[in-house]
Amino acid sequence: MSELSWPRQAGPLSLRRPTPEALNQVLTWRNSPEVTQWLLSTTVDPDAWREDWLTVQDGDVAVLAFVDDDVVGTGSLWVQDAMGQRHTGHDIWSRAQGGMAYTIDPAHRGHGYATHLARALLSIAFDDLGLHRVTAGCFADNTPSWRAMERIGMRREQHGVKDSWHAELGWLDGYTYGILREEWGAVSPDEVTATE
Ligand SMILES: CC(C)(COP(=O)(O)OP(=O)(O)OC[C@H]1O[C@@H](n2cnc3c(N)ncnc32)[C@H](O)[C@@H]1OP(=O)(O)O)[C@@H](O)C(=O)NCCC(=O)NCCS
Repeated sequence: MSELSWPRQAGPLSLRRPTPEALNQVLTWRNSPEVTQWLLSTTVDPDAWREDWLTVQDGDVAVLAFVDDDVVGTGSLWVQDAMGQRHTGHDIWSRAQGGMAYTIDPAHRGHGYATHLARALLSIAFDDLGLHRVTAGCFADNTPSWRAMERIGMRREQHGVKDSWHAELGWLDGYTYGILREEWGAVSPDEVTATE
């Protein structure tokens, strides 16, 4: 496992740690309907949201994606235990699994930014943090999100029938995607590199 360094280049995106100023920029689009429509955290309170992004839990990762001076996206990666037997004395399952999520400013969609951002989160998870597995979930109707996950080599592992509550649409189907570290080796491009 290596120390995380910032910024990182991910295709056209520069990934940086959140600052209050950059988060204020995100807040100009974070609560728009095009963003909240398929998120679990729908409309957020600006102050609480900004605080959350500035005080990420130890070991977790919060990044903002820039194109020039514009913050075009947010990405997060959280680390948790995998399922595993506790009685053997081994803790290989401990903090072995990551979850990830991302958003892209509606004004900047359709350029592959989510694909670059999600791929960079996988690189951090596997190449830097040495995780065993990463998963991500989405509403089944969130086609742009699952298409991005499939583009970076993630596998649809679960189709949950009406397992996901949507505030306006009620119970909807959800998908869970997953990828293992050994699978990531097969799809990892050279484009995600630390720049300093
Ligand atoms: C889901 C979301 C992140 C997708 O953002 P995006 O940047 O538009 O997604 P992508 O990276 O997949 O790019 C979209 C399109 O750009 C195209 N594209 C253009 N240049 C590209 C490139 N260099 N590489 C890859 N795709 C490219 C792709 O073909 C893709 O279109 P397609 O899926 O119809 O083929 C965005 O819609 C969003 O923020 N939604 C609300 C929040 C959300 O749902 N988050 C996920 C929660 S699970």
